[in-house]
Amino acid sequence: MPAIVLLGAQWGDEGKGKVTDLLGEQVDYVVRYSGGNNAGHTVITPDGQKYALHLMPSGALSPSAMIVIGNGVVVDPKVLLEEIDGLAARGVDVSRLRISGDAHLIMPHHRALDKVTERYLGKAKIGTTGRGIGPAYGDKVARMGIRLQDLLDPGILRKKLELALREKNQTLFKVYNRTAIDVDTVIAEYLEYAERLTPYIAETRVMLWDALDRGENVLLEGAQATMLDMDHGTYPFVTSSNPTAGGACIGAGIPPTAITKVIAVSKAYTTRVGSGPFPTELFDANGEHLRKIGHEYGTTTGRERRCGWFDAVVARYACRLNGVTDLVITKLDVLTGLEKVPICVGYEIDGKRYDDMPMTQTAFHHATPIYEELDGWWEDITKARTEDDLPENARRYIARIEEICRTRVSVVGVGPGREENVVRTPLI
Ligand code: IMP
Repeated sequence: MPAIVLLGAQWGDEGKGKVTDLLGEQVDYVVRYSGGNNAGHTVITPDGQKYALHLMPSGALSPSAMIVIGNGVVVDPKVLLEEIDGLAARGVDVSRLRISGDAHLIMPHHRALDKVTERYLGKAKIGTTGRGIGPAYGDKVARMGIRLQDLLDPGILRKKLELALREKNQTLFKVYNRTAIDVDTVIAEYLEYAERLTPYIAETRVMLWDALDRGENVLLEGAQATMLDMDHGTYPFVTSSNPTAGGACIGAGIPPTAITKVIAVSKAYTTRVGSGPFPTELFDANGEHLRKIGHEYGTTTGRERRCGWFDAVVARYACRLNGVTDLVITKLDVLTGLEKVPICVGYEIDGKRYDDMPMTQTAFHHATPIYEELDGWWEDITKARTEDDLPENARRYIARIEEICRTRVSVVGVGPGREENVVRTPLI
């Protein structure tokens, strides 16, 4: 029963699409299990076509795989339909898509509340993507959510929306001084979506179990990343779901015993968008180098990403938390030309050394990185395809990451192109 989890080991944007590419034709089902259209990935197909996806998994473009949006995802139907139409217009077969009836819907009040609460928080804001993700998950947990399956029953849809808006409109109007949202307008809009989305709504759990029984490969594709996990990340500066391996089971309805491989992707340095602690963040020319050479600007919001050195404490934490079997290090080429390539191997917090993540968020905010300074390399590594093609110092850098994380590095990305990888151990 080969289910493979693919997730980010840092704060997102690690380049998970690269791995989907490498797995390519061997994947029969590709499943999104958490998050919503806060994610963003650009996929470049072998014929050079560029696609920007937010809700669909990046594997949607591998021609034969079934595409599944699991119960753990929050779906903005407008965005999903735009993506379906965009893909169909370019000849992609979207009839392969199935969406769990248990996935929750992002409603207009979720988007409105995401924006006003962030504004209200001022300097303490989380820096969300403003897509309504947090409020949608909040309602799910509060048992006030509206699910994809509710689109199939207009009576229930209205009942649930009326109930939700009774409270949300009070908040929007009385607390935040916004106009109330009209039930009828939303119902009319969502019933139109219902008509178009109905063919895609399915019992995805059984579908995936059957696929696993047949011995097919199911790829559980994470969005966001370990350090943005609501339970295990840098709370409250996290997203409102569980992008970690445990979340993959919950968000797809797949048993943990079905998972045979957990692939974690990490950049050779670190980036983060939005607020929150980031011990190895750089504010100097090196940070600028990483941003410029690595093109570190958000796919979803266009925001500048914060950049810093590789944090091996975070990477080891991610490996242990997710039970990672294979690490993929992307964008090693971005470090080319730097005299020293430091790796953060621990933190100093209030005069004490920590080799693991400290217990409290307050301590993490005060963490000063302890670096091991490795020598850099100048050679162009973008043509490297085997380990031997890499300069000795680049090899040492990877070996040190492997050693600290106690996890094998199977693939190293050496350029943006699909082929620009050093494969040390094949992923499948
Ligand atoms: P939300 O998911 O929109 O609620 O945002 C919560 C935090 O997660 C913010 O710091 C976002 O910038 C961050 N975030 C959400 N999705 C992504 C992503 O796909 N990549 C990187 N950061 C993300």
